[in-house]
Amino acid sequence: MDIDQDVEPSVQRALFEQVRRHTGIAMNERKWTMLKGRLRRRVMALGLPDYRDYLQVLDTNADEIDDFIDLVTTNETSFFRTPRIWDYLAQSFLPQWFATHPGSALRVWSAAASSGEEAWSTAMLCEEFRAREAAFRYAIVGTDISDGILANARAGSYRGRSIEGLRQSHPALLQKYFRSEGVQADVGEALRAHVAFRRHNLYAAPRELGQFDLVLLRNVLIYFDLEGQKAVLANVRRAMRPNAVLIVGESESLSRVTTGFTFEQPLIYRNGQHREERDHEHA
Ligand SMILES: C[S@@+](CC[C@H](N)C(=O)[O-])C[C@H]1O[C@@H](n2cnc3c(N)ncnc32)[C@H](O)[C@@H]1O
Repeated sequence: MDIDQDVEPSVQRALFEQVRRHTGIAMNERKWTMLKGRLRRRVMALGLPDYRDYLQVLDTNADEIDDFIDLVTTNETSFFRTPRIWDYLAQSFLPQWFATHPGSALRVWSAAASSGEEAWSTAMLCEEFRAREAAFRYAIVGTDISDGILANARAGSYRGRSIEGLRQSHPALLQKYFRSEGVQADVGEALRAHVAFRRHNLYAAPRELGQFDLVLLRNVLIYFDLEGQKAVLANVRRAMRPNAVLIVGESESLSRVTTGFTFEQPLIYRNGQHREERDHEHA
């Protein structure tokens, strides 16, 4: 039996709607081949004859939703992805922030953290900076909608392409901050003390996350439509201190959405929120 035969457009559309409902990710018929490729094995594993029955499972079994979210999200990431960003953070952002915030602790949000490489890369830069400025303090929160991928982020155990990339680009940092055993490398205690991961849907109000000085919202806006991007950016901005920095992904820009962010340089924005606006919002 081939469950991929003749899947009715109405079933495809209903599955796209489920993706949108649970993740905010916008899909259309051009994504069908990808989506069915991701769901096929799950549908077969549940012993279901076709995708229509899987829709019924999604409607009636809340426990299925977490697996569904794990399957439909794209988790591609790497250590120090987009080198320009990391140069900016090390050479510009961290020294400037430290000079202008004496006595404060830097709070960083890796807002679509996937398997954690972005959060751990940030932690490595912060540790390197702390080696020069002993008074520097920081905390990093990594969030994602997928519980499955967050388990990998928390484990901090990497192998294969992920760790090979780090070995090529930053061998000294790998040596310093990871414990390597054979082909596997585990994040060491020095970084773990500063990084926590938790589940968060970017479409939800970020109240319980607190306020951040730096937000990495990278390679996730591309999955949302314009309305979705606006909603997510407004939520993210609520969790940012005035003048905090937002960094987006290589193929992302805020130029099509009106936000309270001001362009600083490609991929880098500042929260231009004024105090009166914040007071009004929190009144
Ligand atoms: C391609 S990865 C980006 C990882 C990392 N930020 C980077 O740039 O390398 C996109 C991540 O966004 C997450 N994601 C998708 N929709 C989300 C949502 N509504 N809320 C939170 N995370 C979401 C996915 O689970 C996935 O791990």
